[in-house]
Amino acid sequence: MKEKYAPLFKNFTFKSGVELHNRVVMAPMTNCSANGDGTVSDAELAYYARRSSGVGMVITACTYVTPNGKGFPGEFGGDRDEMIPSLSRLAKAIKGEGAKAILQIFHGGRMVPASLVDGDVVSASTVPAAGNPIPRELSAAEVDAIVKAFGETTRRAVESGFDGVEIHGANGYLIQQFFSPQTNRRTDKWGERLAFPLAVVDEVKKVVSEHAKTPFVVGYRFSPEEPETPGITMADTLELIDALKEKNLDYLHVSQGEFWSVPRRGVDDSRTRLEIIRERAGDSVPVIGVGSIYTADDALQALSTGVPLIAIGRGLIIEPDWLQKIENGQEDQIVTKIDKNNQDQLVIPNPLWNMIVNTPGWFPGV
Ligand SMILES: Cc1cc2nc3c(=O)[nH]c(=O)nc-3n(C[C@H](O)[C@H](O)[C@H](O)COP(=O)(O)O)c2cc1C
Repeated sequence: MKEKYAPLFKNFTFKSGVELHNRVVMAPMTNCSANGDGTVSDAELAYYARRSSGVGMVITACTYVTPNGKGFPGEFGGDRDEMIPSLSRLAKAIKGEGAKAILQIFHGGRMVPASLVDGDVVSASTVPAAGNPIPRELSAAEVDAIVKAFGETTRRAVESGFDGVEIHGANGYLIQQFFSPQTNRRTDKWGERLAFPLAVVDEVKKVVSEHAKTPFVVGYRFSPEEPETPGITMADTLELIDALKEKNLDYLHVSQGEFWSVPRRGVDDSRTRLEIIRERAGDSVPVIGVGSIYTADDALQALSTGVPLIAIGRGLIIEPDWLQKIENGQEDQIVTKIDKNNQDQLVIPNPLWNMIVNTPGWFPGV
């Protein structure tokens, strides 16, 4: 390995005590390849195992915490105890190759395809997502039940041998719908926009303290801004961070397509969003940055901003041996465009492969 890449290979220990053997994380990526009954398929297991021997930690595709939270066809389930053997296989496939395994827990809210939830699309309020029906506003009792469901899926993650969970508060799904002034128009206590995200965090932390016998990571992922007005601004996000800082979380994960993106509005600051967020998080909670990191130098430059961990999504689908190549001094051989003739060698399940090759502009090389 070239000496300059050594910072990528430093250990990192989370507050909970879970230790990573390097600074690179596989970003959560839905692959739509589960079995019809919601169990993780063999193709998914092979896909994850292929990508778990280099990175320090793998965050899985999101899993739904209640049946009406299912956001994608072929999404594996975490909503009932019968899924524990399936989740255990996934944790084992990842950990067996040396990475820590983090389950991303999720509810799709107004974004779920109506056909996946018998038409019962729900959200904080009756504001539809583009192209989707008007969602039904959840009753206060139903909101309480979904908070509990996030805890129950966390218990299943503990019992399945995962090293942690990531609360999916990003990308426009239910938790973000409660935080956003665009989608939360409620007048009850859940109209306080931080109430639902923080209730989920508290429930997950409570379940971990009751059930985990070994160190267990709890992370939180959020999107820093929404394009619409009204919508989440950087000012809102800084408030969210201040609240999350009090929750003794292991990390915050900033969901972005581009690591170096800058604020749209809400702060008078020309630095990147990540620099602003990292400064606000301070010493209270480490931040994971992500977005269009493909080469070893991209990663090094990202780490040099002071974020302790970086996540890579598409780059690890395209190049499963990303870290190993750097470790072996072959960083110039890292593949950065998808090879459309190489599905088998890349160990990519058919549904994910079809999405990649049929969506121009999504992955480099397509
Ligand atoms: C195929 C695919 C599926 C994704 N699914 C999820 C998901 O389930 N949960 C999530 O938080 N982000 C998801 N994302 C976003 C990624 O985690 C990541 O933030 C984004 O791809 C930018 O990182 P990259 O440029 O390294 O790919 C997905 C991205 C891709 C490409």
